[in-house]
Amino acid sequence: MNNHSVSRSLSKILISESDIQLRLKSMGQEIIQYSKSAGIDELTVISITNGSIVFTADLIRQIDLPLKLDCIRISSYQSSCSAVTEPKVIHTIRLDIQGKHILLLDDILDTGKTLRCVKDLLNALNPASLKVAVLLDKKERREVKMEADFVGFNIPNEFVVGYGLDFAEYYRNLPCIGILAKELQPQK
Ligand code: IMP
Ligand code: MG
Repeated sequence: MNNHSVSRSLSKILISESDIQLRLKSMGQEIIQYSKSAGIDELTVISITNGSIVFTADLIRQIDLPLKLDCIRISSYQSSCSAVTEPKVIHTIRLDIQGKHILLLDDILDTGKTLRCVKDLLNALNPASLKVAVLLDKKERREVKMEADFVGFNIPNEFVVGYGLDFAEYYRNLPCIGILAKELQPQK
């Protein structure tokens, strides 16, 4: 059996596939409501890859508004799951976001360093507005001042995988979110 087989590596399923899909429907509604109340008739979604790919694909299909999509690629982890470097832009956006209404998406808000870095970088390009949506929020781990405007689920301080989130690049394809088995968890 492969070392990264799901049955060996997850200690528990934290959020089921159906709970994720249900929550994304309501998050989509929250984003539409906010946009309407703010007079926003078009959104530019910026997705932080790779972790947000699955979240982005499902969430944007719940947002019935004219919308453009771009990606930014950031690296702050090296091969496993402990933060060993500061966030670094590996591939930047291609759309001109000046004067646009931005919705920045990430899979998880952890220490806050990645989103802080990307938010500052995008704000420097003078968008008309910038809101942040994350699927997961691990509040306990915050190291810098950063909060999301839309949060899918608040989760405890456990290393989670699935639905785009990886451990050593594995498990992104799981349809649910699970806690990585204790013996594989990073040292805190
Ligand atoms: P931050 O900069 O510490 O907020 O970390 C954000 C990035 O770290 C996320 O986009 C994820 O790629 C990664 N990350 C943080 N916590 C987890 C986790 O529990 N599982 C998988 N990846 C995580
Ligand atoms: Mg990652």
